[in-house]
Amino acid sequence: MMAGWRLVGVLSFLVAAMAAGLVISHGGDVEGLRVAIRATARTSLVLFVLAFTASALVELLPSEATRWQRRNRRYFGVSFAVSHFIHLGVILALASVDQALFWKLTNISTIVLAGSAYLFIAAMAATSFDRPAAWLGPRKWRLLHLIGGWYIWISFAIAVGKRVPLDRFYWPMGALVLAAAIVRLLAMSRRGRRQAVIGAS
Ligand code: HEM
Repeated sequence: MMAGWRLVGVLSFLVAAMAAGLVISHGGDVEGLRVAIRATARTSLVLFVLAFTASALVELLPSEATRWQRRNRRYFGVSFAVSHFIHLGVILALASVDQALFWKLTNISTIVLAGSAYLFIAAMAATSFDRPAAWLGPRKWRLLHLIGGWYIWISFAIAVGKRVPLDRFYWPMGALVLAAAIVRLLAMSRRGRRQAVIGAS
């Protein structure tokens, strides 16, 4: 099974090729940019959920598959960052090609809230490399990845949640976002109970 940085290379190439293919197949018009923005948001969601739920799934359903996912958590996280910076790149292209449409699709509060998610994504991606992670130290690393992970989760919950009433297509995406939080919370409560038992014994 593919793993490690090779996985990052292949996933990043596939997302970039998908985005470029969508833009080119639409003749480089605005509709192509919109399709590429939506498609990269979806690849980002899947990659984010794989990284965000990796430890929790090993806790809840230990198996060869979940342990593989856990071993590659860092690589799914970095691939998510690549996919989401492509999302941003295509958004910037749309903003420069058609400003009026850009402001119809977004607003200043989204830019501030979703823009802050990018600060977390950049910091989390940078500290997925050994040297910056060692520089930060394990306690701060855990805090950054805990807070950043939930901030990004909230960004997806808002971005997907506001589209759920518009089209049935968004129901499975909404279900995936909800399932990710449920898995994390279940694993957290199970770990908490186990620690309570250890503490009592
Ligand atoms: C400055 C930051 C961002 C801007 C300006 C932005 C802008 C946009 C725009 C304009 C669309 C709609 C494209 C269309 O319908 O044609 C979109 C879709 C979306 N964005 Fe972003 N975005 C930003 C950051 C984020 C972040 C941080 C997340 C999640 C962590 C996110 C998740 C999504 C999702 C889930 C969709 C819907 C995709 C779909 O229709 O399936 N975006 N974004």
